Amino acid sequence: MARPRRSTEPRRRAVVGTRRGPELPGAPPPPLGRDEYARRRRALMREMGRDAIAVIAAAPVHLRNNDVEYAYRQDSDFHHLTGFGEPESVAVLVPGRPQGEYLLFVRDRDPTRETWDGRRAGPAGACRDFGADDAFPIADIDEILPGLMESRARVFYTVGVNRDFDQRLVGWVNGLRAQAKHGRHAPHEIVALEHALHEMRLFKSRGEVEQMRHAARIAAAAHLRAMRHCRPGVFEYEIAAEIRHEFHRADADISYLPIVGGGANGCILHYRENASLLRDGELLLIDAGCEFRHYASDITRTFPVNGRFDAAQRAAYDLVLEANRAAIEAVRPGEHWNRPHEVAVQVLTAGMVRLGLLKGRVPTLIKEEAYRRFYMHKTGHWLGMDVHDVGEYKIGDAWRALEPGMVLTIEPGLYIPPGTRGVPPEFRNIGIRIEDDVLVTREGHEVLTDGVPKDADAIEAVMAAARAARSTAS
Ligand code: GLY
Ligand code: MN
Ligand code: MN
Repeated sequence: MARPRRSTEPRRRAVVGTRRGPELPGAPPPPLGRDEYARRRRALMREMGRDAIAVIAAAPVHLRNNDVEYAYRQDSDFHHLTGFGEPESVAVLVPGRPQGEYLLFVRDRDPTRETWDGRRAGPAGACRDFGADDAFPIADIDEILPGLMESRARVFYTVGVNRDFDQRLVGWVNGLRAQAKHGRHAPHEIVALEHALHEMRLFKSRGEVEQMRHAARIAAAAHLRAMRHCRPGVFEYEIAAEIRHEFHRADADISYLPIVGGGANGCILHYRENASLLRDGELLLIDAGCEFRHYASDITRTFPVNGRFDAAQRAAYDLVLEANRAAIEAVRPGEHWNRPHEVAVQVLTAGMVRLGLLKGRVPTLIKEEAYRRFYMHKTGHWLGMDVHDVGEYKIGDAWRALEPGMVLTIEPGLYIPPGTRGVPPEFRNIGIRIEDDVLVTREGHEVLTDGVPKDADAIEAVMAAARAARSTAS
């Protein structure tokens, strides 16, 4: 087990409940400024070098059914470099171009379309409000972009995310090649933009960490609200609605489909139906995080539907909590990425033997991965603009070292569905995961998600207080 180390988390005001429910999670931080986006573009251009051009497309609009669209979510890479939220946009970086290095192609202003669909920045707004050196209507891109590419040897571009745009990019390059006999030059290489960009995104700036702290506080308030509303006879979707309520009233949205799984549903890792009745005597597993200004939180808490753990639930829960805490203690600079997972596996496997779920020697059970019967996923992932955020986990063949500014989740679990053979019967129908978001700091780590309790007694106290408040009110 990792050497215990004190968390550097300053004491933070817990999200306190009132009669009306949890309070809002405090004032939001200032949004990221234009200077931060400009810094990112400059850093990327330094990596690219002078003979290159980068082309980054906005996310396409997706239809949900017939003519109804999904809520628009800007592409994370595009947003990271521009802060520009409109679809049908393309950002172009041309390092060293005397007339301006940062160009945006955007939808033109159109009073009729804006009456129906909403405001547009237009090219003038793209320069005025988003710092573009030059901006053009997206309809003109076929005429303008090949000319910008012509003098450059390499195009930085992410292939395979937007198939339609891939075709267009290849079309522009091939169009230039076809005109070689007329003296035009074509770039000779398409370079994976994401290599450089995703390495940059892995390290969060001070401003980004502030957004992520806030996203974590909102999600913590939502989990507290869920604990307070939970009781036997309520449906999973009602709890999911309470969570979404807390997100939306804080100007956030879900960062992934919430998992609200009672009893056996808690053993389905990506359970999404959220349709069952919550029953007395069962556990409820909630994995729900929000996205605030494009930054995600990702929290899992597990608690008894009736507010009181029985003995077996408590023993299993305390084991997962021990793994969660031990893995968090392993988060510090210089430790390698996989160390928290190794620590969690060690704690969980020893505990599985103690509880009678596995038989044998712990080192052998770990070597043979016997624990995977009850713990089949990894202990975490990078977290940032994407809930499963970008960034390499290995450098060459070796796990990379944790460094200040990285954010990751720690999420050990234990899953014993009903009908599991060869285990003490009292442990059947138990699915537990406890997930926190953790920032690597210079001194060690900061847990971003400690606004929601995870100690079993503390959870029971929150639920008992809510029960008491309900009975006084009725
Ligand atoms: N909610 C997705 C995950 O925990 O990885
Ligand atoms: Mn996660
Ligand atoms: Mn999660």
